[in-house]
Amino acid sequence: MSTPNENPGLLAKHGAIEKNVTLLLALSFVTVSIGGIVEIAPLFYLENTIEDVEGMRPYSPLELAGRNIYVREGCYVCHSQMIRPFRDEVERYGHYSLAAESQYDHPFQWGSKRTGPDLARVGGRYSNDWHVQHLIDPQSVVPESIMPSYAFLMEAQFDMEDPAAHLNANRLVGVPYTDEMLENAVFDLRGQADPDGDHDGILERYPNAVIGDFDGNPDRLSEMDALVAYLQMMGTLVDFSAYEPLENIR
Ligand code: HEC
Repeated sequence: MSTPNENPGLLAKHGAIEKNVTLLLALSFVTVSIGGIVEIAPLFYLENTIEDVEGMRPYSPLELAGRNIYVREGCYVCHSQMIRPFRDEVERYGHYSLAAESQYDHPFQWGSKRTGPDLARVGGRYSNDWHVQHLIDPQSVVPESIMPSYAFLMEAQFDMEDPAAHLNANRLVGVPYTDEMLENAVFDLRGQADPDGDHDGILERYPNAVIGDFDGNPDRLSEMDALVAYLQMMGTLVDFSAYEPLENIR
């Protein structure tokens, strides 16, 4: 192939493009569009870009409510929810996060700011009592903590006017909530926080959901119940016992 210097015709054409801003912009746009289409178009034809992982299910209504509180209170400002595949992270927090584990998150809570520890696998690490005490008065359990108190969550009357509408909103963006889940949303929301009550079907609809009186007060449903229910399920759905997390990690 000849270079422009050896080929005056090519040089002239190139010169014409460089001297005409509109033409240059139009041709740049065409070039960038081709690159964009090549990268983006296949995504529209793929059934799924996330590898399915056994155990993943949509959030139960109570967990979803807790997640809404987590977002509202800005917990993500200090906590990430993504364990990266590095030895130090995996040894501290557990198996690195899989894409599928946040496939039902709208919006994602990955974050990058870690004033506090990553919470992607905090579920089951502490008791409900520990979480409640920690959220009421963090320094009472971790004296050097700089986490603020969220004691008001105990008092905050839990008010999720229409849980089914929340599930439905998530369904609209692709979370596979079934009609049965929508119909039972109120029942499931209350039932999950009432260990002595009726749990018909909750565990079938939401396998591995933790049922309990999360805030220590069985008489009322507080925002604390919802938030702790959410914390207790984080990172617990996929069973990693058969995997070796440090394999492939340097
Ligand atoms: C100003 C930053 C900040 C905010 C905001 C914050 N935290 Fe924390 N959090 C921390 C720090 C620092 C720690 C580590 C010390 C401790 O355990 O208290 C921590 C620890 C935790 C832990 C224990 C994690 C572990 O593995 O030991 C949990 C659970 C937690 N936070 C939940 C929350 C929730 C839920 C919210 C929102 C309601 C929240 N945090 C908001 C800073 C914050």
